[in-house]
Amino acid sequence: MHKPIVAANWKMNLTKKSAEDLIAKLNKFVYEDVEVIIMPPFTLLDMAASIADNRIKLGAQNCYYKKNGAFTGEISPDMLVDIGCKYVIVGHSERRHIFGETNDLLRKKLAASKQAGLIPVYCIGETLDEKRKGEKESVLSEQLNIIDNLSMPLIVAYEPVWAIGTGVAAEVVTIRETIKLIRQKLREKRVKAPVLYGGSVKPDNAKEIASETLIDGALVGGSGLNADSFLQIIDIFKEVRKC
Ligand code: PGA
Repeated sequence: MHKPIVAANWKMNLTKKSAEDLIAKLNKFVYEDVEVIIMPPFTLLDMAASIADNRIKLGAQNCYYKKNGAFTGEISPDMLVDIGCKYVIVGHSERRHIFGETNDLLRKKLAASKQAGLIPVYCIGETLDEKRKGEKESVLSEQLNIIDNLSMPLIVAYEPVWAIGTGVAAEVVTIRETIKLIRQKLREKRVKAPVLYGGSVKPDNAKEIASETLIDGALVGGSGLNADSFLQIIDIFKEVRKC
């Protein structure tokens, strides 16, 4: 079994001082059996790259698909690599729903990340409305279809939109069934990728989630902003997957 992955998406949070304090606490932990990734906002990446223990990997939350040029306010995958990032989130539901990012645009971002040598954490998931209408499978299929023919290292994160930031994670049985479906679609595409779960993962529910071995790890939002809760989640994955 490969190492579980636990990633923290800090979203638009933290300042230089609070991020330094958080990283200082994270640096004290022993990480051997877990791949730990932190994903600070762009403004904190350089600082994080210089002070985080090198067993903590660095990821960005977004990128544009062009290499450089007149794209005010955007950041390219090459710039992220230059600053020390190994990973980048592509297609987070907040990018899809607040900023209107389409599958078409996300495909370009995935291809550009590949070219730069970044590993995308590609987020997919249905909204509550889509879930109620029974459209989950078709939504996930469409979101996954954009990886066709890209053949690149990739992490997929299943994040049901209705579970993000609500405090209520999806039930493990639902996560298991959905990840089975995602894996089947990945197999059909001959894509090998770890599949994470994201959406209100916290110390309280991490054991139940980590115990389901079909889930390769967690993408954590709110609980990743606090060293104690993030370290507890990492520790739970480490312990549960050891035995
Ligand atoms: P949450 O966020 O853990 O705060 O629900 C997860 C995410 O958006 O990746």
